[in-house]
Amino acid sequence: MLKATAVASPNIALIKYWGNRDATLRLPSNGSISMTLGGLTTETSVTFNADFQRDEFFLNGEPIFGDALNRVSNHLDYIRRLAGIDTSAIVESRNNFPIGVGIASSASGFSALTVAASAAAGLDLSQQELSRLSRLGSGSACRSIYGGYVEWHRGEGDEDSFATPLAKANHWNLVDIIVVIHKEHKATGSTQGHLLAETSPLQDPRVEDADRRLDVCRSAILSKDFHRLATVVEQDSNMMHAVMMTSSPPLLYIRPETIAVMKKITDLRSKGLEVCYTIDAGPNVHCICTPSFEQEVTSEFSNLQGVIDIIRAIPGPDASIIEVEATDPQE
Ligand code: DP6
Repeated sequence: MLKATAVASPNIALIKYWGNRDATLRLPSNGSISMTLGGLTTETSVTFNADFQRDEFFLNGEPIFGDALNRVSNHLDYIRRLAGIDTSAIVESRNNFPIGVGIASSASGFSALTVAASAAAGLDLSQQELSRLSRLGSGSACRSIYGGYVEWHRGEGDEDSFATPLAKANHWNLVDIIVVIHKEHKATGSTQGHLLAETSPLQDPRVEDADRRLDVCRSAILSKDFHRLATVVEQDSNMMHAVMMTSSPPLLYIRPETIAVMKKITDLRSKGLEVCYTIDAGPNVHCICTPSFEQEVTSEFSNLQGVIDIIRAIPGPDASIIEVEATDPQE
């Protein structure tokens, strides 16, 4: 039997995924674009062994049960089906970044799990296939298969909804300064949130305009036009939060301190600093800036009241296998 270990990084969406056409298959309502966050990693080992009675999942050394274990186990089922095996597995996963700080660990978690589990099951899959499979575990995970700047195509169905690389990590050295305002576990996670998206009267117009935002974002990245990028990234984030706030029941992730940081960023940009904000399903703010302004942005927010941590990331690498070992040399 094989044990395989993979490493993957989370990503920050510049054009957001919010809402599914098919929640089970995680077929998104719109395409999305992200930057993979290098320096932040999830390392996951998967061992299949016929002697194991059931799947087990350890996160940062702690055994995990209930819904989170079932989600991992269901994901392993996709890989077992492909490999034609029915063996149970032990999954050991470690994040080098704290949970609940506005960095989606499901993206790096499910991409690392997909890469490790498919190698441990003896499959040799393309990155496209790994991206498609990762999507079934967590939508945003399909983007974490690739480093740098990445686009997830909405696709027509299960077969063609996957991510492709847009530009390599060294194409544009943007920096993500994550301003952490709150670390509490959020009441409504993304999976639940996606289900509410269609209850908002603003979701249809948001989705209808998505191709335009994707075009602007894609070309701003390719031409390294910070000003165009900043405008569309902030607009897209605000549109997603407008949908969240107008869902039934409404989802309000942003806090007063979030607004204070957003306003400060708008101020700084009007003074000529290349920085913009984007906010996921939580109160923390991702400040995307060019390296020349990193220092100024960081010191601005380290002194702001209500800020409890600052985490930095730069465009990172593809998800990859770091080790494959035979656990039973007789076989
Ligand atoms: C706001 O990928 O975490 O971060 O598919 O249920 O795992 P699941 O949802 P997830 O949703 C991410 C939502 C977002 C925007 C984004 O990353 O595109």
